[in-house]
Amino acid sequence: MTRTMTHPNPICVAVDTPDLAKALALVTALRDSVGYVKLGMEFFYAQGAAGYSAVAKAGIPVFLDLKLHDIPNTVEQGLRSLMALAPAPAIINIHATGGLEMMQAARKAVPASTKLIAVTILTSLSNDNIWAAGLDPARDTADHALNLARLTKQAGLDGIVCSPLDLAGVRAALGPDFLTVVPGIRPADTAANDQKRIATPASAIAAGADILVIGRAITGAADPAAAARAILASLA
Ligand code: C5P
Repeated sequence: MTRTMTHPNPICVAVDTPDLAKALALVTALRDSVGYVKLGMEFFYAQGAAGYSAVAKAGIPVFLDLKLHDIPNTVEQGLRSLMALAPAPAIINIHATGGLEMMQAARKAVPASTKLIAVTILTSLSNDNIWAAGLDPARDTADHALNLARLTKQAGLDGIVCSPLDLAGVRAALGPDFLTVVPGIRPADTAANDQKRIATPASAIAAGADILVIGRAITGAADPAAAARAILASLA
């Protein structure tokens, strides 16, 4: 199956820095050339709500990538605190391995105006890693990830974070409307760095990605806005 873009600009730039000035310089430069900005633990734990608001006020919708995972009540109340951030994040995430009840509790805290998505199996984990942690050794990471993606949908969440290589299976099992946010993206002419399971932006969109999380290929470029525009042009 070949899909086309579901967002006018599906690029989500990963601002992986603890530094507020660097983050602000990036979002200012990228305001007209990306669709989303991703802020994670590295930024949020250093800069808190004030730093978040400063970046979010630059006008690019924010994916707040904090991957909550705790008992249902704690995740629900934690998300209520995060939903008081201004402006509210466009996308926020939790771990699917927290279970159905945790995800259902999370859903109660997040209004439909913010997309709530789940991480299934971290792509840093191998089969040996998940089996050592006690997951069913008759099933591999892809099986466990698909099972958790189904559970995520059952809990009423909007979608998942997944690898480009998981897209075909996820789309086949969960349909066209389940939001897929996909890291591990490398334009054909850029370095893989530490990423192993990679795809080009165009092939990830064709395989069913809705949003592409792209860090160093944009943030490490001499002209980040030009790099983002070139990636967007490659999708047209
Ligand atoms: O620089 P790069 O494009 O590899 O950055 C990708 C971003 O996506 C980083 O913020 C990284 O932490 C995140 N990420 C990932 N793989 C996952 C989940 C998140 O690369 N499975």
